[in-house]
Amino acid sequence: MTGGSGAHNVSRLMGASVCRMPGSVVEQLLGMRAGICRLNARTGVRTALLYSSGWFVQWHEGTQEAVDDVWQRALTHPGHAHARVIHRSQGVPGLTEPLHIASLHNRDKPTDVARRLLRIEREHELELDGEPAEMWNLLSAPCMLEPRDTALSVARRNVVAVTSEYTESVDLIKVIADRSRAPISYQRFASGDAGEAGAAYVDVAGSGYMTRLQALSRRALDNSMIKLSLCGMQSLVLLTGHRPHHASRLATAVVGLLEGMAVRPNVRVIGSCAQTRAEAVNVLHGLPGLDIVEVESTRSSGALADTVLDAIGSCADTARARLDFLSA
Ligand SMILES: Cc1cc2nc3c(=O)[nH]c(=O)nc-3n(C[C@H](O)[C@H](O)[C@H](O)COP(=O)(O)O)c2cc1C
Repeated sequence: MTGGSGAHNVSRLMGASVCRMPGSVVEQLLGMRAGICRLNARTGVRTALLYSSGWFVQWHEGTQEAVDDVWQRALTHPGHAHARVIHRSQGVPGLTEPLHIASLHNRDKPTDVARRLLRIEREHELELDGEPAEMWNLLSAPCMLEPRDTALSVARRNVVAVTSEYTESVDLIKVIADRSRAPISYQRFASGDAGEAGAAYVDVAGSGYMTRLQALSRRALDNSMIKLSLCGMQSLVLLTGHRPHHASRLATAVVGLLEGMAVRPNVRVIGSCAQTRAEAVNVLHGLPGLDIVEVESTRSSGALADTVLDAIGSCADTARARLDFLSA
């Protein structure tokens, strides 16, 4: 067994430790990339590393022996302390590449992360824990609504991805975060090769549900850890800008993302330039059966935020009505 995509039963280990690295932690993790990839190529192990508010999380998959070796090897590094295993199981592999590196930058304190880790450990002891991917999502993109980790974080959740060629998607969620006085979480992702991408999200409370608005750059659409966090996404908003060539490149990346999804979200193509929107829609038609709606907006950031909220509001309402109907 190699831990490759054909393997159906691998050893999965998740561990946590307290960061003791001086200086830029993310740069130091990125510096280990080549070495870890070389070793993982030899042993078939796949690894995801997360840095969040003073903590490291490691997720390794492969043969039991190889996974244990990697864990022991990581323990020797002086840049962390108090390492402990928080989950161990046999099961289907969740990682798709030799190495993923992620970091989360938000207003969480180390105790917030410690609380989530304790919850995972407690559930593991009681054999109530789920798949490593669920734990990874909880740790790498936690719900930021106050009060933390209570009913709303597990209530019905709408996930909406907002994507743009440049920073328009992040600018948009900043406007929405400001309005709802919600904190933004910034994310960085890197894979084993040179690629790096940024993303950000904000959680907004509704009555009895929450909506996560996830801003993604075009490059982030390719990242497999991002794909993991978009599971269950209801809507995808493409901010097309006003350069047709860029809009079609963005739409091509969106098609690449949606192709691999069994259940596809609604797609809303929003922008001020009709020709640019048309370019994007033309590319999206390459994926038959997509629910695509074009929406005209002005260039002002406040008006754009209203347009996006209206467009996803009706998607979220439709999804909720469907759920109510199914559960009646
Ligand atoms: C949080 C953290 C996670 C690490 N994860 C790995 C890993 O998955 N694989 C690995 O080979 N090294 C990992 N390392 C680095 C190893 O401890 C070690 O420094 C590296 O493998 C280089 O070892 P060498 O000097 O013997 O070549 C990690 C270090 C830290 C601080």
